Amino acid sequence: MSMERPQVLVVGAGGYGRVYVDALLREDLGADLAGVCDLAPDLEERIPALRERKIPVYRDLTDFYAREGADLAVLASPVHFHRDMTLYCLAHGSHVLCEKPLCLTLAEAEEMAAAAEAANRFLALGYQLDYRRDVLALKRDILAGRYGAPRRLGVCHSFRRGERYYARNDWAGKVTVRGREVLDSPFANACAHNFQMMTFLLGDGLRTACDVTGLEAELYRGNPRVENFDIAALRFATDCGAELMYFTAHPILPDALGPRGVFEFEEGTVTFAGEAHAFRARMKDGRQVDYGSIDPGQPLQKLLDAIQAVREGGAPVCGAEADRGHIRAVRLAQDCPVVAVREELRVSYEEGGQRYLRVEGLEKLLEDCLDAWALPAQLGRRLD
Ligand SMILES: NC(=O)c1ccc[n+]([C@@H]2O[C@H](COP(=O)([O-])OP(=O)(O)OC[C@H]3O[C@@H](n4cnc5c(N)ncnc54)[C@H](O)[C@@H]3O)[C@@H](O)[C@H]2O)c1
Repeated sequence: MSMERPQVLVVGAGGYGRVYVDALLREDLGADLAGVCDLAPDLEERIPALRERKIPVYRDLTDFYAREGADLAVLASPVHFHRDMTLYCLAHGSHVLCEKPLCLTLAEAEEMAAAAEAANRFLALGYQLDYRRDVLALKRDILAGRYGAPRRLGVCHSFRRGERYYARNDWAGKVTVRGREVLDSPFANACAHNFQMMTFLLGDGLRTACDVTGLEAELYRGNPRVENFDIAALRFATDCGAELMYFTAHPILPDALGPRGVFEFEEGTVTFAGEAHAFRARMKDGRQVDYGSIDPGQPLQKLLDAIQAVREGGAPVCGAEADRGHIRAVRLAQDCPVVAVREELRVSYEEGGQRYLRVEGLEKLLEDCLDAWALPAQLGRRLD
């Protein structure tokens, strides 16, 4: 293993992990791909560059560590494997960059953080928004007191998901898989980023997030084939006194809705719309602050920062502490009742060779909820 050029293992290379593999093979990020690990038997057919570049491919982590080593393990495996794999990689001397969410209980998060500390390795998380330089600039301004106390922050963000998404594995949309909790939903997984970012922005230090203390929720199942909920309207109380509202769903018609956010503070309001985020603030005294000119960094800044931390010491900005608020929020949401969307609102349709389900009027409802800081029931527009 060389600290000059850290050796990187990517686990779950056949799913989202492919993004890491492609980046490491496409350009020189100052690190080498030491191997990949994935259960998929056809990985080398799907990624021919692995064979061409003689990258070792393993099905199992134990086989990888029996023959190879890695300075950094990137875990893009399904959520319910994150704990066991993190502990295993740390025990074998690797720093870990684990995809989000870190895990599903606060006890596991603490166990994983403690294991990293004991191993003298970092445990970083894959929430890419936390690595953006504009997000960090806004966070520094919040921490410096420029905006005063946070009052209420809200984001509306949804991704459309069709039958291929749910059929690609055994855990999409599930509460448990093979007896293990997975709690998959747009809130816990696909659209977790912007909610986690809100908690991260309100942390009392650069690496911490605020915690949630209570929840008022409306959770719906739009797609009857989904076991968990696929529509969430959420209002959280937090330990920093601010209210957090989040609106997210999968049965929508455009590919994406938002993200759009409104962050109200004592001294000003920050807004953004779109994946580019481009935060703009209007202060109470009329001044405007524009974060749009700050270079956010690279799309895989999380990997670059992790590689740099392996080489130079320290730890990337997003670690286990940054997921505490989101993990507790996922648990609170999971305890709330889920109700089916009434049948006349459910529209099944086909597009691009796959079936989708959309809930009539859902896109406008979620936008209206954000504008009114209200849950659907408060607008007289429940979906059941
Ligand atoms: N940061 C992001 O923007 C982003 C985007 C998508 C997914 N993710 C995260 O990446 C993780 C994986 O999500 P996904 O959508 O790619 O899941 P997926 O189920 O589509 O793919 C997971 C891959 O891991 C492999 N795998 C499953 N179990 C394994 C095991 N025990 N050992 C080795 N390989 C195994 C599968 O064969 C598959 O190739 C999740 O934590 C998810 O939240 C993050």
